[in-house]
Amino acid sequence: MGRLNGKIAIVTGAGRGIGKEISLKFAEEGAKVVVNDLGGDRDGSGEGKIADEVVNEIKAIGGEAVANYDTVATVRGGENIFKTAINSFNSVDILVNNAGILRDKTLYNMEEDEWDAIMAVHLKGHYNCTRPFVKYIKDNNKTNCRILNMSSVSGLFGNFGQTNYGAAKAGIAGFTRSLALEVTKFKCTVNTISPGAATRLTLDLMQAAGREYDANDWSQGPEQIAPIVAWLCTDEAKDITSQIIHSQGGIVGIMQQPAVIKSFTTDNLWTLDQLDKLIPELVEAKKHHDKQVEENGSPKKV
Ligand SMILES: NC(=O)c1ccc[n+]([C@@H]2O[C@H](COP(=O)([O-])OP(=O)(O)OC[C@H]3O[C@@H](n4cnc5c(N)ncnc54)[C@H](O)[C@@H]3O)[C@@H](O)[C@H]2O)c1
Repeated sequence: MGRLNGKIAIVTGAGRGIGKEISLKFAEEGAKVVVNDLGGDRDGSGEGKIADEVVNEIKAIGGEAVANYDTVATVRGGENIFKTAINSFNSVDILVNNAGILRDKTLYNMEEDEWDAIMAVHLKGHYNCTRPFVKYIKDNNKTNCRILNMSSVSGLFGNFGQTNYGAAKAGIAGFTRSLALEVTKFKCTVNTISPGAATRLTLDLMQAAGREYDANDWSQGPEQIAPIVAWLCTDEAKDITSQIIHSQGGIVGIMQQPAVIKSFTTDNLWTLDQLDKLIPELVEAKKHHDKQVEENGSPKKV
């Protein structure tokens, strides 16, 4: 008996990489899967029917899946992806917003189309694919759904040459926090994943950083993300929402969310002389906090 028996899942960008592994894991756990993928290049250009290969793999293990080749980057694409699920399986329980591309440049060199393409696939892609699902949840009073959104350390920590991608990925974490509040009355959860895995998006960056890639090492590959996403879709995860779950290098962790660490108040408008003292004090408190977080965050072996 699979932990996701009877569930219907949509996974975007599921023709390869992390999305493919999530789709296979969902199928292994008994879910029926819409495997969406535009099948384009790493920068989002081009198209192809790679979703078919994943559908065939799922069928080969006795699962049920259907392919969809629409882009997540348009409202119409998002609606078509959702309709594929309804037309094929009559229902939807799970949406994984995973499709992604890269157009890395420093801001100095970044043209408008490189900014817009990233926003369209990543940030607007989350709107395009999630809105039909949320409408369906509300109109049908559907409960216990799951939405998983793909962020990145690029947006959560920052990364050189990725202002476009980083802004979109930080936006996705914000999208998650607000949406989680909106669907909580339907007992639906919305969580952010911060993944790290060797895929075509990252392999050259890993190798440029001098890291060796071993295809047989699960802790490097995209398969490490799949059980974590699958678990977040089980009934056992019903109370886990608005979180950022990090998975990279064989670890599973939870990230802190923005929070006020220390603050002051005063009766009158702040003077610059007061702030000479107070803001450095706040920054010191933040450094102390960061140190504690770093110590607590180092992985514990299970
Ligand atoms: N691999 C990592 O270390 C890493 C780190 C942080 C975040 N991520 C995020 O995880 C997600 C998956 O990335 P991956 O590493 O598996 O990359 P990948 O390139 O292996 O897979 C992404 C898939 O998305 C598809 N896609 C791209 N644009 C699309 C569109 N407009 N419509 C539909 N499908 C589209 C691609 O065809 C591709 O098959 C992305 O959102 C990525 O930003 C990955």
